[in-house]
Amino acid sequence: MSALFDRIAAWRHRRAVDVRHGLTLGFVPTMGALHEGHLSLVRRSLEENDRTVVSVFVNPTQFDAPADLEAYPRTLDRDLAVLDRAGVHYVLLPHAEEMYADAFRYRVSETECSAALEGAHRPGHFTGVLTVVMKLLHIAAADRAYFGEKDWQQLHLVRGMVDAFFLPTAIVACPTVREASGLALSSRNIRLHGSDREHAALLHEVLTTAVTTTDAIGRLVDAGFAVDYVEDRDGRRLGAARFRGVRLIDNVPLGSAR
Ligand code: PAJ
Repeated sequence: MSALFDRIAAWRHRRAVDVRHGLTLGFVPTMGALHEGHLSLVRRSLEENDRTVVSVFVNPTQFDAPADLEAYPRTLDRDLAVLDRAGVHYVLLPHAEEMYADAFRYRVSETECSAALEGAHRPGHFTGVLTVVMKLLHIAAADRAYFGEKDWQQLHLVRGMVDAFFLPTAIVACPTVREASGLALSSRNIRLHGSDREHAALLHEVLTTAVTTTDAIGRLVDAGFAVDYVEDRDGRRLGAARFRGVRLIDNVPLGSAR
């Protein structure tokens, strides 16, 4: 059985005991509604460390719209069963009151990259992400922490923060897990059904095959997507669009399918 910790002091005690025994720790931060994408990070951590801790915390400060926070899928009982079956040693379930005892007066923000792409469409999002990841990395006190390439900009910003603040945890990037159609797995996909789910895979298809970003945006709009952005940066093409009210994001290496 995975051991559950909902109090930070109790977790810290556990971690201190494991450190005394020389046990390495891998950490997978999540917001729950777990799927195979999350589990790929979990499996990698289990392979590379003596112990693995997964956090499930729907972080309120990274949602720019209250309705989005409200609608975020919550499947805790199922998540705990999945983590248990995967062989995860520890699960952190922190309370918002303890995570934000300072009422979010203290924040970590980045002043350049976080204003672009996702940040341009979700004001304050990355300040919420970086702040909670800073807290979680300090709490977990892990040797390695695992992040998905699906959230490319998040991964880039977390790496930058870890470097800027000399944090001792190594950040490990894990490839995007996709459905057979190419659709990147996401907790939000739960809200897409049947043929809508197939249709949503067009985001990946278009990002991979369009010659230019303008071409990509045109094809997505024609297919009924509300496009937030498609941009080429540092050898990758990143895109975000809403389809049937569900926001999808994805990114691919440039030149991947041509
Ligand atoms: P969440 O969306 O639950 O994702 C948790 C981790 O799983 C992230 O590192 C994300 O990139 C990774 N992930 C999600 N879908 C994936 C897929 N299809 N393939 C591979 N990895 C995937 O990202 C967050 O939560 C939050 O912002 C968090 C970092 C936990 C801070 O609150």
